[in-house]
Amino acid sequence: MGMLDHWQPVALSRALRKKPLGVVVANQPVALFRTASGAPAAVSDVCPHRRLKLSAGAVAGDRIQCKYHGWTFDACGNGESPGAPKMTTCTTSYDVREQHGLVWLKNRHSAPAFPHIESDGYLPICTLAHAVPAPLELAVDNFNEIEHSGTVHDTFGYDLDRMSEVKVTFESTDDEVRVTNAGPTKRINPLFAWFIGIRKGDTFHDHWTTRFSPVYSRFDHWWTSTDGSRESMVRWRLYIFFVPQDDQTTRVFSVTFAKSRYPGPGGGLRLVRWMFRREIDREIRSDVNMLYHMADYGTGIEGLKLSRFDKVLGLTRERIARVYRGQPALRVALA
Ligand code: FES
Ligand SMILES: [Fe+2]
Repeated sequence: MGMLDHWQPVALSRALRKKPLGVVVANQPVALFRTASGAPAAVSDVCPHRRLKLSAGAVAGDRIQCKYHGWTFDACGNGESPGAPKMTTCTTSYDVREQHGLVWLKNRHSAPAFPHIESDGYLPICTLAHAVPAPLELAVDNFNEIEHSGTVHDTFGYDLDRMSEVKVTFESTDDEVRVTNAGPTKRINPLFAWFIGIRKGDTFHDHWTTRFSPVYSRFDHWWTSTDGSRESMVRWRLYIFFVPQDDQTTRVFSVTFAKSRYPGPGGGLRLVRWMFRREIDREIRSDVNMLYHMADYGTGIEGLKLSRFDKVLGLTRERIARVYRGQPALRVALA
């Protein structure tokens, strides 16, 4: 399978309105638009006539119209030219879906499973998009490693001075990598700590599973007392999808949920959703900012002095290459 053979998010639903929207997915320019019924559609963003971006045009009924000479294309890519009505033309079109506040696409001929988002008992908090200034592998590395939580984040993570106490486990199958972490929480934003019910010295639990068709991770975050007898009032569940725009930029789409044990509808989460949304956005921006400072954007891991938290890098690289990019099985050396 190639990269566009997987269902992957390419835009926030709320960003696709009456005008077409140009995106780049795995180096392919794509024009998204909504037909008259509001259904999303996607075609190549290169007009087959003289290569203007179709996304610079407009929507006319069920068709996208090129701004240059007025040729139009339907959701299946069938084209019509006002100046040469007998000529047949067509362009590449994609399968499109809209779910969880995101517009997703894939190649027409592939038949992958659609990612299953498990959110029973959870309340949706927000769906966000960020552009990460790094290739896919480095973006995944950042979100699949918890050692940086001691320094970079302030609403979750481990106490930097006690990072050596964090227990980490790895499990993997052909197409999945699971990591669990448990250790002393860092001091987090006091308002958060109070609402979530976190006390000094509590154990922070961070479990995630990464899959590769498309590339995404599901994170579960919660806190307990050190003996496990008391649990925080709120649990988080985040799905993060990693979509390469090109070789230097990765788009990160996050779908966040929370579950509360407070009484009442939504367990009070609706009241604080605006604050949670703001903090999640800020935390992901902290990751993005960190990635601006990489000295080298190469994706190889040979020669790196990897720590006990970094075993996951080799596991995810091998599966990104084989499952997501459709490359022959790689042997990835671990330091
Ligand atoms: S370039 Fe699109 S119609 Fe001519
Ligand atoms: Fe992070």
